[in-house]
Amino acid sequence: MTRSGLVLALLSGAVLSSAAADDREYQQAQFDYQLHCQGCHTPDGSGADSVPRMKNEVGVFLQSKAGREYLVRVPGSATSALNDKRLASVLNWMVREFAGDSVTGEFQPYSSAEVSELRQQPLNEVDKYRAELLQALTGATGRKQ
Ligand code: HEC
Repeated sequence: MTRSGLVLALLSGAVLSSAAADDREYQQAQFDYQLHCQGCHTPDGSGADSVPRMKNEVGVFLQSKAGREYLVRVPGSATSALNDKRLASVLNWMVREFAGDSVTGEFQPYSSAEVSELRQQPLNEVDKYRAELLQALTGATGRKQ
């Protein structure tokens, strides 16, 4: 093998293995969602009863800093049994799978460090906080949309 051939082979190996790692992380996140979240949030993020719809909606929160933080500080996220890395992955997975057009602009994925810090301040009185956030973001009122 020529030198450049070797470099190419090494490079494509690195690309492939990082794709494989992404794939594993994605599958782990999907599995974590199924195990820890979908019981309330439903498989496709539609929600039910008092669980808000994420499908085509949840991206709205990403438009403000407080909204982005809310998705981590909400008790379902913050107090879950998942470690920081896996919670970050699940949230990134949720946004990718469910948010659809409700994400405007480029989504900057959550990092473990960000999640680690934010989940230390879980929210109380979530309903009120959520309604205020949405009102600020969209002018909408009400608990479910
Ligand atoms: C026991 C039911 C339940 C489980 C399990 C649950 N959630 Fe939730 N989740 C809720 C409810 C209810 C809300 C609405 C806010 C509130 O009252 O806490 C919510 C809101 C959210 C929101 C904000 C969406 C919005 O529109 O307000 C996110 C993000 C979220 N949950 C993530 C998760 C993640 C991640 C998991 C799994 C690790 C999870 N939840 C597990 C019930 C649940």
